[in-house]
Formats: sequence, C-alpha cells, structure tokens
Amino acid sequence: MMKVFVPNESAAGEPRVAATPETVKKMVGKGLEVAVQAGAGDRAHFPDDLFTAAGASVVEDRSAALSDADLVATVSGLSADEIRQLKAEAVCVGLVAPHQHADAVIAYRDQKINCLAMELVPRISRAQSMDALSSQASIAGYKAVLLAAYRLAKYFPLLMTAAGTIRPAKVVVMGAGVAGLQAVATAKRLGAVVEVSDIREVVKEQVESLGGRFIELPDMGGGEGEGGYAREMGEEFLRKQREIVTRHVSEADVVICTALVPGRKAPVLVTQEMVEGMRPGSLVVDLAVAQGGNCVLSKAEEEVIHQGVTILGPSNLPADTPYDASQLYARNVWALIEPLLGESGVNLDLEDEVVAGALLTHNGEVRHAPTREALEGDSK
Ligand code: NAI
Repeated sequence: MMKVFVPNESAAGEPRVAATPETVKKMVGKGLEVAVQAGAGDRAHFPDDLFTAAGASVVEDRSAALSDADLVATVSGLSADEIRQLKAEAVCVGLVAPHQHADAVIAYRDQKINCLAMELVPRISRAQSMDALSSQASIAGYKAVLLAAYRLAKYFPLLMTAAGTIRPAKVVVMGAGVAGLQAVATAKRLGAVVEVSDIREVVKEQVESLGGRFIELPDMGGGEGEGGYAREMGEEFLRKQREIVTRHVSEADVVICTALVPGRKAPVLVTQEMVEGMRPGSLVVDLAVAQGGNCVLSKAEEEVIHQGVTILGPSNLPADTPYDASQLYARNVWALIEPLLGESGVNLDLEDEVVAGALLTHNGEVRHAPTREALEGDSK
C-alpha cells in the first residue's frame, strides 16, 4: 500500500498544512495509507483528531515517517537534511521555491527524489484545479487589502453621517493578475474607489467588470508575452508608466503592488519620489517584495515609514489565512496527485504536459532548465 506522509511545517514558521481532513479522506478512499505528523494542522485549525477521523494515523516520529514514505505532501518542501532521509524514488510535493533553495534542489536530485514543484505546474486549462500559485495569490490579494484597511487611519467606504460626509478611500492597484484582481474586488467590496495599472490589454475589461478604473498607458500592445503573462517592458516604457501613474499614486490612500514578470525582477513602479508625493498616513503594501518589490523602499517582512507613508512588505500573506489557504492548497495537491495514482504507486508519465512541467527533479537529474542552469552557474 502506498504510504503518504504529511509533515508539520511549523519548523519553517509556516502555519499551512498540505493535506486537510477532506483530502485525507479522499486519499484513504483511494487506498492510500496516510500518516500525519502530530500537530501538523494545529495552526491552520485542523486538529489531529479530525485527521484521525478522516482515516489517517497521527505519528510523532517525523524522521521515521519521512524514511518510510512513498509520497511526502508539503507546503514549502523539506530541508536538504530531511530530503536525504527519504527513500530513493519517493515523491515529494510542495511549493519548493527552487530558485531560493539550491541546497534542497541538489538533495532532491542526488537522492533521486521525484520532486513535484507546485509552482511549476503549467497554467493550462486542464491544470487549473492544481494551480496553487493562483489559489494562494488570490488570498494574498484579499489579505493585502484587509491589512491596508486595518492600518489606514481612514474609512474605506463613502459615509454620509450626521457629522458630515466621509469621502471614500482611494486605492491604486499595480498589476491585476490573480492577486491584483482579488485586491480590486476586495477593495471595491469595502467601498473604496479603485484604480489599476497593468500592461496587458485583456486586464482592462476584467478590472472594469469589477468596478475598477483602468489607468490607460500608451503603446500597451506589446505587454502580453508567453502564456498570457506579462512581458518584461523596457526601462523607457516603465519610465513613461511611472510618469502617468504618479498623479494617481499621489492621490491614493493605499497602493497595493502585485506587478510581476515571470522569471524576472519585479518592475519598479513606485519610486522614492512618488512615495514622497503621497499624503502622510498613506500606505503601500508591496506583495512583489520577494521579487525585489514594485516600490523601491519596501523591505521583506518590514514596516518602513518614509515621510509619514507606511510601506509594508509581507511576503507570505496566505499564511495569515491558514485555514482556507490550506484547504485550497491541499485540494491543489490532491488534484495533481490523484490522476497519477496507478497500481504500483505514483505513475510519472513524462509525456504528460503537467507531469513534465511540474517535475523539478527525476532520476537523479534536475529537469527544470532554469533551475539546472542556475545550479550550473553557481558551481562555476
Ligand atoms: P503575475 O503574478 O506574473 O503578474 C501579476 C500582474 O502584474 C500581471 O497581470 C502582469 O500583467 C502585471 N504586470 C507586469 N508588469 C507590469 C507593469 N510594468 N505594470 C503593471 N502591471 C504589470 O501573474 P499572475 O497573477 O500569476 O497571472 C497573470 C495572468 O495569467 C492571469 O491574469 C491569467 O490571464 C493568466 N493565468 C492563466 C491561468 C490558466 O489558464 N490556468 C492560471 C493563472 C493565470
């Protein structure tokens, strides 16, 4: 019988869990034997007894469970030392951030682990249910607005009170992909006036359908690149874009930054001068901080106050909503794994576009070319 292990992520300061009682029940229904590390779901509010009721065994000995597992379901991958405890050809699933953890990638490779990186799942229609980047980005966009609303010294909605009228807050969202669109929807629900800057033309209609105003940029035609994602725009375009958005930013109470270009540093859209043009008490929430940030002043996990403007750089907001983030992530993981289950365990068909895309390491090799090239570059 295939053995699945769900470890506790708390060592990594991560409250999410990669399986929930719902997905464990499905695994058990498919004949898998599931072990969950004691306390793995505690901080996401899935206590051990719910896992037991779903058919899992709750285990204390992490090392023993790691070395016994055929499949390890994680949120953020394992450390290099732990990977070396796994059986060769075991499968490990997680948002492993290969560009940040070269030592772990080397361990997956050398230990002949089949590492399925959730962030590498191709974003094709068939794989939408497995798309952890989207499920987690959407939560981040939502939470970024709540964080801003909580911290802002103003109301978000227009209020007509006996003491007079309160103007609605103005929110500018930079980048309207999955996180940005959820930020637009959340800020609108709270009653703010929302403006959006993006460089892909298709976004305009999506923003308007949510009640946001799209900030027009000239020569946007070339903004869309491979796979529907944004293309990297030249410095001249970005300069013009900053010039246009400066006025909108200077009038904003809140700027939510989510603009990213896959595989590149985040575009700089809010300069120090632009922050200095904002009113004291305004806020910038920069979700692009892990990729270098859209705002030049943002620092990961820090609160920077510059001339009265607060700049927040939270890098893991889905972790602040661990119950639902875990529910969605666990479903993404199960949607990836379930179709791969065969008679003798996980069947990795390299002809399958989803498997071929998601498989970071296989048979002692790093399959993902950018990661392989980065490792080769490091070893020179
Ligand atoms: P992302 O996180 O890579 O980028 C976020 C946003 O930043 C994008 O909308 C991008 O256009 C924007 N951006 C880049 N440079 C900018 C600049 N200079 N100024 C302003 N904005 C800038 O993208 P995300 O959220 O992962 O996905 C983007 C799109 O990909 C989605 O809206 C969708 O169209 C497509 N997608 C398709 C999926 C599927 O078919 N399964 C799943 C997920 C996304």
